Amino acid sequence: MSETTFKQRVFSGIQPSGNLTLGNYLGAVKRFVKMQDSGIETIYCMVDMHAITVWQNPEALRKQTRELAAAYIACGLDPQKSILFNQSQVSAHAELGWILSCVTRLGWMNRMTQFKDKAGKNAEKMSLGLYAYPALMAADILAYQATHVPVGEDQKQHVELTRDIAAKFNYDYGVEIFPAPEPIIEGTATRVMSLRDGSKKMSKSDPSDKSRINMTDNADTIASKIRKAKTDPDALPSEIGGLKDRPEARNLVNIYAALSETSVEDVLSEFGGQQFGVFKPALADLAVNHLAPISTEMARLTAEPDEIDRILGIGADRANAIATPILKQVKSAIGMIARD
Ligand code: TYM
Repeated sequence: MSETTFKQRVFSGIQPSGNLTLGNYLGAVKRFVKMQDSGIETIYCMVDMHAITVWQNPEALRKQTRELAAAYIACGLDPQKSILFNQSQVSAHAELGWILSCVTRLGWMNRMTQFKDKAGKNAEKMSLGLYAYPALMAADILAYQATHVPVGEDQKQHVELTRDIAAKFNYDYGVEIFPAPEPIIEGTATRVMSLRDGSKKMSKSDPSDKSRINMTDNADTIASKIRKAKTDPDALPSEIGGLKDRPEARNLVNIYAALSETSVEDVLSEFGGQQFGVFKPALADLAVNHLAPISTEMARLTAEPDEIDRILGIGADRANAIATPILKQVKSAIGMIARD
């Protein structure tokens, strides 16, 4: 798209809509931590303005935003190394969101599968914000000229839309302000599935709490959910091909591989031929060892909300310092008058 080379910069966000899951952890946060340590500038956001596309109880939103900040930090994000903040504290998101809404075509928005999934047959009753949300997501990324966007598979279409919006803005105004950000979707857990139904994504909003592992679950709950996870009666195969048409088995193997940072092949070479009666307790141990210290640390951090708010305030200032000059360039390119 563009000849300009942009500084490498990572941006990603998570909605503070409660019940952060193992899917969010493996598909997003764990990978955010990896990127933080790769030497590239990293910016991670609690996207509270996205969360309100569906009504949120105000007290709950405050609590969930702090809990998400605590989760980021408990999982290894260091507010000195990464910029951590909540979206609504940096007004560039909303301003650029509007500007990009004017570039985005309705035909593009109508293809967004996540809106169709969320709205179902009730599209008429959904908020305009829920429909317009991908343009705000594009603004989140482009306000920082971010080049890399680590996400789970379900967000790929939105990052691809961001590339189209960036290209159209640059073309329409004859500028090269925006890069074409790359979705970074890597590892064995880019789509963690429900523990009750291997054809459905593990989700914060699933009515069944047993369908997911929450990052706030304690050791007993984690172990019990894994023991009760739906499976089939066969032993695990020794080769990846043997997981075909076995979505529940494949999901548990993927989770094991992601938690232990090995490949699916390695997991199957260890457990191939074994029954779930052997594999599930091993997975439960692994998950508990990995996740229980995180939930303990989250509880410690959420007990100090003032400290979390202080960290988010510093993050917002740092984010603002990057986004403000970019937004200024954007407004100038459009022909908006500003004071110098
Ligand atoms: P959200 O809050 O639904 O999810 C946050 C991140 O978690 C990933 N994820 C999963 N990964 C693997 N398996 C799953 N079952 C699973 N469930 C969720 C998501 O892919 C995502 O990476 N629109 C975004 C938030 C957002 C954003 C952004 C992301 C707003 N602005 C800018 C990147 C850049 C969302 O609703 O994610």
